[in-house]
Amino acid sequence: MTAAAQDPKTVYLKDYRTPDYAVDAVSLDFDLDTERTRVRTRLQIRRTPNAATDAPLVLNGEEIELARVNVDGKRLQETAYVVDGKTLTLPSLPEHFVLEIENYCAPAKNTALSGLYASSDMLCTQCEAEGFRRITYFPDRPDILAKYSVRMTANKNKFPVLLSNGNPVGAGETGDGRHWAAWEDPHPKPSYLFALVAGDLARVEDNFTTMSGRNVALHIYVQYKDIKKCDYALDALKRAMRWDEEVYGREYDLDVFQIVAVDHFNMGAMENKGLNIFNAAYVLASPETATDTDYEYIESIVAHEYFHNWSGNRVTCRDWFQLCLKEGFTVFRDQQFSADMRSGPVQRIKDVKALRARQFPEDAGPLAHPVRPESFITIDNFYTATVYEKGAELVRMMCTLIGPEAFRAATDLYFDRHDGEAATVEDFVAAMEAASGKDLTQFRLWYVQAGTPVARLEDDYDAKKGVYTLTVTQSTPPTPKQADKKPLHMPLRAALVFETGAPGREHMLELTSPSETFTFENVPARPVLSAFRSLSAPVVVKRDLPLADRLLLMRRDDDLYNRWETAHRLLLDVVLTFAGDARLDKAEQALSAYADALGDLLENETDDAFAAEALKTPSQNDVAQEMEIIDPAAIAAALAKTERGLADRLAEPLTALGARLCDTSPYRPDAASAGRRAMKNAALKLRLSGADPDAGATALAQFRDADNMTDAAGAVSALALSDRPERAAALSEFYDAWRGEPLVVNKWLSWQAMAPRADTFQTVQDLLTHDAFAMNNPNKVRALIGAFAMHNLSAFHCADGAAYVFFADQVLKLDKMNPQLAARLVGALENWRRFDSQRQVKTKAELKRILQTDGLSENLFEMANRLLEGA
Ligand code: TRP
Ligand code: ZN
Repeated sequence: MTAAAQDPKTVYLKDYRTPDYAVDAVSLDFDLDTERTRVRTRLQIRRTPNAATDAPLVLNGEEIELARVNVDGKRLQETAYVVDGKTLTLPSLPEHFVLEIENYCAPAKNTALSGLYASSDMLCTQCEAEGFRRITYFPDRPDILAKYSVRMTANKNKFPVLLSNGNPVGAGETGDGRHWAAWEDPHPKPSYLFALVAGDLARVEDNFTTMSGRNVALHIYVQYKDIKKCDYALDALKRAMRWDEEVYGREYDLDVFQIVAVDHFNMGAMENKGLNIFNAAYVLASPETATDTDYEYIESIVAHEYFHNWSGNRVTCRDWFQLCLKEGFTVFRDQQFSADMRSGPVQRIKDVKALRARQFPEDAGPLAHPVRPESFITIDNFYTATVYEKGAELVRMMCTLIGPEAFRAATDLYFDRHDGEAATVEDFVAAMEAASGKDLTQFRLWYVQAGTPVARLEDDYDAKKGVYTLTVTQSTPPTPKQADKKPLHMPLRAALVFETGAPGREHMLELTSPSETFTFENVPARPVLSAFRSLSAPVVVKRDLPLADRLLLMRRDDDLYNRWETAHRLLLDVVLTFAGDARLDKAEQALSAYADALGDLLENETDDAFAAEALKTPSQNDVAQEMEIIDPAAIAAALAKTERGLADRLAEPLTALGARLCDTSPYRPDAASAGRRAMKNAALKLRLSGADPDAGATALAQFRDADNMTDAAGAVSALALSDRPERAAALSEFYDAWRGEPLVVNKWLSWQAMAPRADTFQTVQDLLTHDAFAMNNPNKVRALIGAFAMHNLSAFHCADGAAYVFFADQVLKLDKMNPQLAARLVGALENWRRFDSQRQVKTKAELKRILQTDGLSENLFEMANRLLEGA
């Protein structure tokens, strides 16, 4: 067993202490080499006022080789400091001093993709959260803000482009085939925002004039083969820059803004100051290779990283427990941006779907944690849906509670108060209070209390008095280490909808107690409540609503999001009833009524993207989440039956839709044309689940004729999920056509991994050795193993448990290379206790096997341990 696994140290929020030493300036000198890079660091350090005069200085450092340490120009003897695998400690120091360190690191061996690493002939860095310590010794914590200057030397042929944060301040030749470049970042920053890139890269350029008239150069760096795939990212960047000026009053603050695309990356992208580094999948797009969904992701991730320049960089986090301060806020900002760029209600539908698919299960299982966690072993494991997505919901609720004008005043105040500082969640909420005068004391509980609250609605209408009463009770189920829950403060947006006439105006009700009753007077007719409009709080809503009322809301609710919500809920209840979990008395009749209402919607709805969402049926996971004990086979059968029933009832309109939406004009990625394609492809997918004998041929023809990836992928992905005879040809032709485009091949891997078929498990095993796959590329691991474990309930949870053994083997293999990724992947088992006891025995055995493996990383140890807690 490694020291790490034996003795994993837990870090607690309550132990936070201000640093004993501040670093005012950092200068870094890199002699770059793929095998062995030399780093010389020069730090200007000062003891902080509250520190003891004999306080030692503890620097973090991992996987690096120390060569020498100087204090104020004098080399220290090896007895004058202590080094272990994680720290370098200097016992006694003057009040001000210059610390110089020389050390080496090995980018080519760095398969963890944290620190300085090699990716497809280039060198790049990833320092969030604790990667800087894998480059050099440093007090690697986000409350140490310093000015950085960087000098890099490298082979000129191999690495003609040398980039870092801030502005370029010099470059030249050193003779001997090498050259150098120097960069200076005028803005003090924490070490996690440091970045450098070296490579033979093409540069795509544009520029942007800021609100105060300054010119900013925009540079996107990619491999030469990808030079034609940067237009959309560049366009999204300019729109994001303008939007942040207009909506938040935030202006960019350097002369250049750079984005670099890399093939090997653990997450989506990283907001390093002035030098964002992106997973290539979220930069590169062309009509032929990227789907509309890819374009949407690029738009929102480019915006997300750009928005971090203020929410994260100018105002950063005091410690990693405050992660939601930058991530929750920035996700909220990117959601608002996407809503403004496209359809507001459709964006909300997609955001809620993601919240329910990833965050609600997390909150309901062994990995549940508050938006601001209280402890961790490895912070990497807390880049979660709870911190990001639920964190965004908390910001959204505060905006709803205080109103948009006060919210804008609050964000201005927050940025103004804390510019250049490392702040806390408390600072953020305090700004909301100061700008609005609203007391958010009870609201703060959302940050510390885990679990998804359940809100129960009961209502009554007194026709004689014209009085409608609504009673809302709230409760939050227990979560690990949090048995008792308090009531939360939340906004309930609601309106009364009627059989005839327009819906009433919207009310913002505030819930604060376990149970409360609201009275509406002068209500002329029996209303149906449109509740939690646009999901005004991240809760599970429970109510008994008769079929007729649901159909009324589907047709007449003027909150478009809630029309979708009502429809989706009804269809889910049909599936659950078919799966043996009775929710409806007459599921077949309900399905017919649903089909009629949907048919009308398809005919009348002008927002195609919305209609496309309405046409999509629930996923296996959507259904699983609602079941007491998850029954994969019953879910697959019930879904197939529902989809068939719907497709056959809607056969005519679906075929007509396909024909009506067939577009022969050249591809454009805008929201309106994407909406049309989404609707066409949703209709095709549904047709393929029905009896229509021509649907397979239609799909194959759509793929063969497609001039864009959205239509090609729409057809092949739907065929891959089906049993149609055209399936095999579509998959093999697709691979032959796209084998040279790794990002496209990843889609092909996923479709096969997600097929609810008996042979899928074997296919996934075979694909591990296929040219299309590579274990060292996180995108490929997620596309194949991740998709199989997370999105294929029936095949992954096959009754004999063989897929669990396979999965544990892969996780363990991956842990040796990339602990962050292995730990994320194992999270796919977060709902293991929700299955029957035979499956539980089998998953538990695999989790135990993982936990008992020698040399486990801290990342995987922490996850396996939490998954097993109490078992
Ligand atoms: N801060 C990044 C974001 O915008 C997250 C991130 C990128 C990250 N790479 C990472 C987090 C590696 C941990 C490890 O959301
Ligand atoms: Zn982020």
